[in-house]
Amino acid sequence: MTNTLKTEGNIQLKGTIRVPGDKSISHRAVMLGAIAKGKTRVYGLLTGDDCLNTIECFRKMGVEIRRDGDYVEVDGTGFAGLQEPVDILDVGNSGTTIRLMLGILAGAPFHTCLIGDASIAKRPMDRVAVPLRQMGARIDGRKDGSFAPISIRGGGIEGVDYVSPVASAQVKSAILLAGLHAEGVTTVTEPQSSRNHTERMLKAFGGQVEVDGLTTSIRGKQDLQGTTIHVPGDISSAAFFLVAGAIVPNSELTIQNVGINPTRTGIIDVLKEMGADIIEETASDEIEPAADITIKSSNLKGIEIGGNIIPRLIDEIPIIALAATQAEGRTIIKDAAELKVKETNRIDTVVQELKKMGARIEPTDDGMIIHGGTKLHPARVDSHGDHRIGMMLAIASCLAEGETVIENSEAISISYPNFFQHLKELKS
Ligand code: S3P
Repeated sequence: MTNTLKTEGNIQLKGTIRVPGDKSISHRAVMLGAIAKGKTRVYGLLTGDDCLNTIECFRKMGVEIRRDGDYVEVDGTGFAGLQEPVDILDVGNSGTTIRLMLGILAGAPFHTCLIGDASIAKRPMDRVAVPLRQMGARIDGRKDGSFAPISIRGGGIEGVDYVSPVASAQVKSAILLAGLHAEGVTTVTEPQSSRNHTERMLKAFGGQVEVDGLTTSIRGKQDLQGTTIHVPGDISSAAFFLVAGAIVPNSELTIQNVGINPTRTGIIDVLKEMGADIIEETASDEIEPAADITIKSSNLKGIEIGGNIIPRLIDEIPIIALAATQAEGRTIIKDAAELKVKETNRIDTVVQELKKMGARIEPTDDGMIIHGGTKLHPARVDSHGDHRIGMMLAIASCLAEGETVIENSEAISISYPNFFQHLKELKS
């Protein structure tokens, strides 16, 4: 699918929106709801393609999940109630589904085969397969055994003390979810803190998890109890409109009920450091805190972004790169080699596509360098099937007078099904 976006004269973005539910939290609500005992109600669940794939995977293991008005209800079977699927589980484009699912299935005494799309087939699964094998799961896959399609035979696993070479919530979560059904205690240590939604959600379902700095531990053989979850708006989706509000002249917009878990708010810190006019007002403080965020356009300046903040904004780097093209001076993004193993190699796709619109941007081994103060022009660009690249290019089109054509724009529905509708509303 292609999408043609027209920008005539100077546009401005004004209004108030609510972005769809957080993708990371939505996956976890369905997963823990499925393996808990009793019913779980999830309000505000993201119904983008990735989370629909997670739901479908659990349905194939005998879990009933239905939409009912403004919530989704999961009839938790308890972990022991999961059934061996007679069909392969297809995760589509979702790295979170395949990696967390491998963690859950490590404790399940049956065989499962997981597949995904062309992007998933290229993404490394060894980062979860290695620790899960150490715990006793039998995992095999393409190439060296760690690429999808991948199969797992779980059950009878033991706790592990694992030091992860990457700061990855998907790795940490897969190990903790396996640890939940292992013998003994499981411990994961990461080089930097990654998002902690699994830990928070486990507690909401009555589980016990201990966090000590960069080390997280879980005792095995715990039962979870179904509960009610309210999913806040996804800060990674809000990020596109936060940056849009900052860089499209004369804009002012408010995004309501955005999740502001501190492990995710690197984008707000970076926008503030660049000089953005941004105000947060607390909306709720439940399992996951949320705020209404208002941003007005302002002059941004280039900065250096690297170190511990990277895991707190890893998914926002494509849109930060766009903000940097409009800032005064140079922005350096470093320590972000993880970008290479996302839905696309996001160092390559960001650089390649923004260059088509006139940006002055260079790739580096672990990030990119962006020279600011550039007037962008329209072009025929491509999401490469990566939702966040597609949305970044759509926001870029607001600054490029004329017609920008985005190829493969359907990918946007992975995390933000009504993105174009919101963009249209804010433009008018
Ligand atoms: C996610 C964790 C991050 C993030 C991804 C979602 C999660 O990946 O990029 O979009 O839900 O746990 P890593 O944990 O692999 O860095």
